[in-house]
Amino acid sequence: MNFPAVRPRRLRTTPAMRRLVSEVKIQPQELILPAFIREGITEPNPIVSMPGVVQHTEDTLRRAAAEAVELGLGGIMLFGIPETRDARGTAAIDPNGILNRGIAAVREEVGDDLVIMSDVCLDEFTDHGHCGVLAAEGSVDNDATLDIYAEMAVVQAQAGAHMLGPSGMMDGQVAVMRQALDAAGLQDTSILAYAAKYASAFYGPFREAVDSQLKGDRRTYQMDPANRREAIREVELDLAEGADLIMVKPAMSYLDVLADVAEMSPVPVSAYQISGEYAMIEAAAANGWIDRRASIVESVLSIRRAGADTVLTYWASEIAQWLREGR
Ligand code: PBG
Repeated sequence: MNFPAVRPRRLRTTPAMRRLVSEVKIQPQELILPAFIREGITEPNPIVSMPGVVQHTEDTLRRAAAEAVELGLGGIMLFGIPETRDARGTAAIDPNGILNRGIAAVREEVGDDLVIMSDVCLDEFTDHGHCGVLAAEGSVDNDATLDIYAEMAVVQAQAGAHMLGPSGMMDGQVAVMRQALDAAGLQDTSILAYAAKYASAFYGPFREAVDSQLKGDRRTYQMDPANRREAIREVELDLAEGADLIMVKPAMSYLDVLADVAEMSPVPVSAYQISGEYAMIEAAAANGWIDRRASIVESVLSIRRAGADTVLTYWASEIAQWLREGR
């Protein structure tokens, strides 16, 4: 009598065997590269807390986008850092504002060969760093902010964005953007809704990346990390408002939420492997405490396994390079 009769190890015997039976794979077309363009610089500016990531000039952003096409990435998500900020984030709705110029430059560079996405949010543009405009008493004014998001949506789509990423967590943001786009004849511009976005401490390095002016926190609009069920409600609302894709953010501390959302969503699901997730792995690897490449691949695999169809990751190009080299 043979014991044990069932031996799961049989399917782990060789690399070829393991490749054959792996349940999820990473492919370059599922990866989206987040990228920053900064106004008023002539050389790319390194982001200290995100080693290997820079604030781009228009020229280096074009090159990063061209490289993304060459590597077969699925998309690029653009963020802008303006030279001047004000209380209402006026530079966000200026067709000549840095983000809108960046969108136009990337569109000119890559055309339709890459899905060009852009951030619809005010935090990079306001002098107080909040994702919306403030009411007289200092709270973030949801409905006044919606009017600006609607304008931003139209300006970004006209600049050449294929897909818009509302990330400010204002109630009704997807609906007002959809309405404004349709009214402007931009029916084909799609919306990737940051549906379940949590008030995470792991956004820290991003705040450096965009020179954030924020004092305090975003807990009155981003979700409470304690809440799982509420993510479903946020997703349902965004779907009802017309979201074409939805996102869970951050990724690694919210894999349970991602799995819930992937289970119920009738549209493709994205997850954002955010700046703090990037910084933690880079820092531990730089100290020799973890294997950098293995940790990166494992982290993205875990996000795919939890149910994400696409993953925003600052390592998108590097991972695609590894896949190409077959390593
Ligand atoms: C808001 C926005 C943020 C991120 C993406 N869009 C910052 C925030 O919500 O504080 C964070 C992304 C990251 O940490 O990598 N415009």
